[in-house]
Amino acid sequence: MLKIVKDWMNKSNSINKDVSSEGPIPEHIAIIMDGNGRWAKKRALPRSAGHHEGMKVVKKVTKLASNLGVGILTVYAFSTENWKRPKDEVNYLMRLPEEFLSTFLPELIEENIQVRIMGDKTQLPSHTLNAVEKAVEETKGNTGMILNFALNYGSRSEILSAIEEMMIDYKNNEIDSNVSEELFSTYLMSSGLKDPDLLIRTSGEMRLSNFMLWQLAYTEFWFSDVLWPDFSEAHLIEAITAYQKRGRRFGGI
Ligand code: IPE
Ligand code: IPE
Ligand code: MG
Repeated sequence: MLKIVKDWMNKSNSINKDVSSEGPIPEHIAIIMDGNGRWAKKRALPRSAGHHEGMKVVKKVTKLASNLGVGILTVYAFSTENWKRPKDEVNYLMRLPEEFLSTFLPELIEENIQVRIMGDKTQLPSHTLNAVEKAVEETKGNTGMILNFALNYGSRSEILSAIEEMMIDYKNNEIDSNVSEELFSTYLMSSGLKDPDLLIRTSGEMRLSNFMLWQLAYTEFWFSDVLWPDFSEAHLIEAITAYQKRGRRFGGI
């Protein structure tokens, strides 16, 4: 058994005791971090307090995932639909990456983690984009886990942009009309990243909310009622344990 898993098991009784290093650790975990607002509401706090607490959880989960040997951790931080929220909340969310990175970037560098961003950067405020691009730049040589932020990400718009770019390349005779799944994938914002093996969504909602529609075709889903700010290392282990028990057939037998 992995030492780190043992340590977490000793710490918490709620962890499924069947966690085993025999099972595969998912190479790519994607998380729809949901429930920050409800977490705050339950405590009569402003929604921003929930987002702030949720940011701390991203740090904990990043460290554990990296220690467990996860290759890619994709976190859904802001969707293309989240602009519909009140201006104050959007402004707060757009400040969070800066705060997250100002305190966490040195640790990410120390942990050999590579930061990436997936989303439409053109609409992001410059202070947000600068902070994220600085982190991408400063960690680009790192060879450990990829921490992939889905920021102003929407899967339908990603797919449409991919088609537009393909049409341009077709017109310029850079590609022909034979479009394979592999070729199409290279036009997506997740280009170069393996499809997620495990998708986690918190807060009890069971929908994708425009997240990685193409990439999740054969992903294992794990839903939990826990609100994102309450998500702990134990929950991540629980999700991975559940994943290890799934029989992935990819259409075969
Ligand atoms: C997830 O929590 C964070 C973002 C979508 C940015 P929510 O803010 O959606 O929290 P709920 O779903 O309203 O509780
Ligand atoms: C999905 O959560 C987006 C993120 C977690 C960033 P939402 O809270 O925006 O999703 P819906 O509106 O409940 O579908
Ligand atoms: Mg939500």
